[in-house]
Amino acid sequence: MSGEKLYIVLMGLPARGKSTLAVRLQDNLRRDGVTTRIFNNGNLRRKHLPLAQTSLSAFYSPDNLKGLEARDGFARLNMQAAKAWLRRTGTVAILDATNASRRRRQMIETFCDDHPVLYIECVNDDEEIIGLMIREKTRLPEFSRLQSRIAEKEFLKRILYYKMVYTPLGPERNFIRLDSLQNRILEEKHSDPIALYARLRDYLVTDEVKNLFLIRHAQTPFNVEDRIGGDPRLTSKGRDQARALGRFFASRKISYIFTSSKQRTQLTAQAICKGQADCRIVPLREFDEIAAGVCEGMTYTEIKHKMPEIFRAREANKYFYAYPEGESYAMMKSRIETGIKKAFFLNRRADNIMIVGHQAVNRMILSHFLYRREEDVPFIYTPQDRFYHIVSTQNKKLFELKRYD
Ligand code: F6P
Repeated sequence: MSGEKLYIVLMGLPARGKSTLAVRLQDNLRRDGVTTRIFNNGNLRRKHLPLAQTSLSAFYSPDNLKGLEARDGFARLNMQAAKAWLRRTGTVAILDATNASRRRRQMIETFCDDHPVLYIECVNDDEEIIGLMIREKTRLPEFSRLQSRIAEKEFLKRILYYKMVYTPLGPERNFIRLDSLQNRILEEKHSDPIALYARLRDYLVTDEVKNLFLIRHAQTPFNVEDRIGGDPRLTSKGRDQARALGRFFASRKISYIFTSSKQRTQLTAQAICKGQADCRIVPLREFDEIAAGVCEGMTYTEIKHKMPEIFRAREANKYFYAYPEGESYAMMKSRIETGIKKAFFLNRRADNIMIVGHQAVNRMILSHFLYRREEDVPFIYTPQDRFYHIVSTQNKKLFELKRYD
């Protein structure tokens, strides 16, 4: 085994981001001139068996021997195809399936014995994300004949069945256990020569975004009065701005708009969604504006006069100063990063991703992609009549402030 050619075998429970990762790896490898192909068991199952049968959880029960036989059959077909393809022109074959049991993985190792096998296990137990992923999956044609509540229940049961046979990686010769939400490697074992290992490792830990549209919510009465925090709606100028955003983005496909839990971001997003054929708004609390604690709802002038020590202390060290009972920029950093990871995870393969956030939130998001000294982050320019367009891939970085009207 020279280690030039490779089987990548994905592993993980349903809704952990395996197929998204498969596509991401394939895109990166192909871009680097490495011939790569995905062999997906689910696609074969959907093609060859009636959806009425395979959308129901009973098909995946470990006690359903017919189901097991059928699923093993699809795995075998894909392994044969992958092996034949590697023998011809292929370099990397990605086997995309749950591959949760040791028995299944032994089957793979026995058959795929001509090149190294590298397992990548996708781990993610964030309940909110899994819930949202399941909601998305059950919208697919596979579940169209079921009511959404029933489809979600069936999918959850399917996950439970996979959990029953799930055996963590261990004896396998090469593997990477990946936190697929955080893009963080949790454990790795590398016994065989794998020429592409370092490159693959890099792809796994990189946050890639083809187009991120970062928008600050449109104008609110609080903005007009210079009042902070709260949960205001939009002014009539704000509603015009939101509609103008809708018109501007109508020609770009936006599948998801991530907002905070506040009305002003969601109202802005709703106006943008109106110009889209198929677009969902996903509020994430991680994108809520900096908590101003005892100063919520006050104007900056009121703070300066009524609480001068707070005003001065914040001016002296804006990044690290936390409002009493509230937050500092520094405190927001980790939740904002989690929000970005969640948005990227849910946005999956779409090229365009949109976040409608707040002033402090957007500054933190910008600083995630664009290096700024900590002391400069709380002053990044975040106007309401423009938006940031960010591209951040391994071979391209772009950062533009654009008008939308
Ligand atoms: O003024 C709007 C606002 O989003 C407030 O809700 C928030 O407290 C503030 O901006 C954050 O900006 P700064 O850190 O500059 O006060």
